[in-house]
Amino acid sequence: MLLQEDINKIHCGDSLEVLKKLPNNCIDLIITSPPYFQQRDYGNIGIGNEKTVEEYVHNLKKIFNECIRVIKNTGSIVFNIGDKYIDGNLLLVPYRFAIEVQKEKKVKLINEITWVKINPSPKQDPKKLVSSKEPFFLFAKSNNYYFNKEEFLDYKDKYLNGNGKKAGNDIGKKYFELIEKSNLSKEEKELARKELSEIIIEVKRGEIESFRMKIRDMHALPYGGQAGGRLTQIEKKGFTLIKIYGNSMRRDIIESTVETIKGIGHPAVYPEFVVQEIMRLLSKENDIVLDPFLGSGTTAAVAKRLKRNYIGIEIFDEYVKYAEDRLQKMNEYNLELFA
Ligand SMILES: C[S@@+](CC[C@H](N)C(=O)[O-])C[C@H]1O[C@@H](n2cnc3c(N)ncnc32)[C@H](O)[C@@H]1O
Repeated sequence: MLLQEDINKIHCGDSLEVLKKLPNNCIDLIITSPPYFQQRDYGNIGIGNEKTVEEYVHNLKKIFNECIRVIKNTGSIVFNIGDKYIDGNLLLVPYRFAIEVQKEKKVKLINEITWVKINPSPKQDPKKLVSSKEPFFLFAKSNNYYFNKEEFLDYKDKYLNGNGKKAGNDIGKKYFELIEKSNLSKEEKELARKELSEIIIEVKRGEIESFRMKIRDMHALPYGGQAGGRLTQIEKKGFTLIKIYGNSMRRDIIESTVETIKGIGHPAVYPEFVVQEIMRLLSKENDIVLDPFLGSGTTAAVAKRLKRNYIGIEIFDEYVKYAEDRLQKMNEYNLELFA
């Protein structure tokens, strides 16, 4: 059993050693960002300093296997890994890791959530585009993993649906007028009005964000993708309706700025906002969230704000002290969610 004294605590030590002391199936969510391959941010010891990417993946997998052991059957494991160029060649490190992990068949890769950096580091190579994304791999141990899709990026529902406005009474008015002006037959017009009315109801109920209509001989014909299906509809029915799902579809992308924290030279802080949204997706209040590479304490800080319990592991005591201080100060600052 997990000891009470191990909860809401940051353990200073090597993550593999500390993880080994934790019991099986005791953690609800692991979210972490291990040291990146050959980044040399934390001195020349330990994980990330291997000579080859194969060795790096091998060492990371040892920790990952401990993560699998300690996670509950209902839990999930999220690893954020950065990529690396060597001699101008992009190694695809995160994907090498994900593929190796899949081979052992102990977990399933549920999603690759892409963090799109709004303000990527402006390191310029005249012959390369600026790298501005990182994956967060979401693994589960069973099919019974906790997943609260509604919570993920739900602030967008409020802001994006109809640009924050309730769908007005004139929604679809333009298309009703076009149907009348079109050269569709009487029966086709009747069907077009019926389906248009139904899709308007879906928008008003918030089931879809919006829609587009294409009418025969009025609009440009669709091409590519599902063109076959849509073209047939236009030919046979005289029109097609295209649903736009907006956020209701819950896509696997999070846009957020890159963050740095004043007063600490931690080089690889991940954004609270990204962690917040993933934590809301994959855990609930009072759950236990573990980060085996806690760094400046972001995972623990978000867990505290979202009323989850945390366990952090960090090898450098300087970062442990910083993270403890950060958590302590949260009592004084507001604990509100932010979007
Ligand atoms: C990419 S950083 C994590 C940053 C963190 N997500 C944040 O927002 O501050 C990786 C961290 O792992 C720590 N670390 C490196 N090797 C470790 C090990 N063997 N055991 C525990 N922590 C380790 C490093 O000191 C570093 O703080």
